[in-house]
Amino acid sequence: DYFSPKDLPLKGKKVVVTAGPTRERIDPVRFLTNFSSGKMGYAMAEAASDLGAATILISGPVSINPPSNVKLISVESAKEMYEAVVEQFDNASIVIKTAAVADYKPKEVHDRKMKKQPGEATIVLERTTDILAALGERKTTQLLIGFAAETNDVTHYAKGKLEKKNADYIVANDVTEAGSGFGTDTNSVTLVGKNDVEIHFAHLPKKELAIQLLQTIMKLETAESK
Ligand code: CTP
Ligand code: CA
Repeated sequence: DYFSPKDLPLKGKKVVVTAGPTRERIDPVRFLTNFSSGKMGYAMAEAASDLGAATILISGPVSINPPSNVKLISVESAKEMYEAVVEQFDNASIVIKTAAVADYKPKEVHDRKMKKQPGEATIVLERTTDILAALGERKTTQLLIGFAAETNDVTHYAKGKLEKKNADYIVANDVTEAGSGFGTDTNSVTLVGKNDVEIHFAHLPKKELAIQLLQTIMKLETAESK
């Protein structure tokens, strides 16, 4: 008894989705990044739009095309993503942080290409802003949904992140499972929420999973507000 898409449960709502990796520059020709393909985030944005939301997709550099009917804002670094999300935050109903944001960036960005030297080299890193945690501090009525890729103790870490970042839901992903995680077209996740919500979704195409996640969350929220 899910909402049928024609019920458009997100109609009238503004949904902001972040997706893809971030790029943290070292010098003009080099950067740090991760394996995020953007597929899950793009699927979440498409699903939000299909369910009736006015959808804004804030994306790091990826090689896939954005869904139609969403507004794409392209960013590069964690800092740029943070600034773009904050700008969209106040009148958003739901913010979905699918992006794989770099946790560290080079402390120094060289404006000329670094030349090799004999022996070892070191790049000193400093932390980026935790965007989800910053939104968790700032939120008023917004529903905050985070994602977490883990290799072990998946729901344990997801519950920790839920609390620590003041999110409403964390979608936890075991990236060691076959057909799950970075670059794949299918995914298996556990949705973790307040009140001990813990729902597993197994081996679904990312688009189908995105629809089911949003429908499940809307149902849980409707039940809660009754
Ligand atoms: N996140 C974020 N800003 C960061 C790092 C993470 O907004 N600088 C968000 C991600 O978009 C995701 C959630 O936080 O929705 C969880 O990301 P994850 O990397 O799993 O959590 P971390 O807190 O960074 O913990 P760790 O990488 O150490 O597991
Ligand atoms: Ca991280």
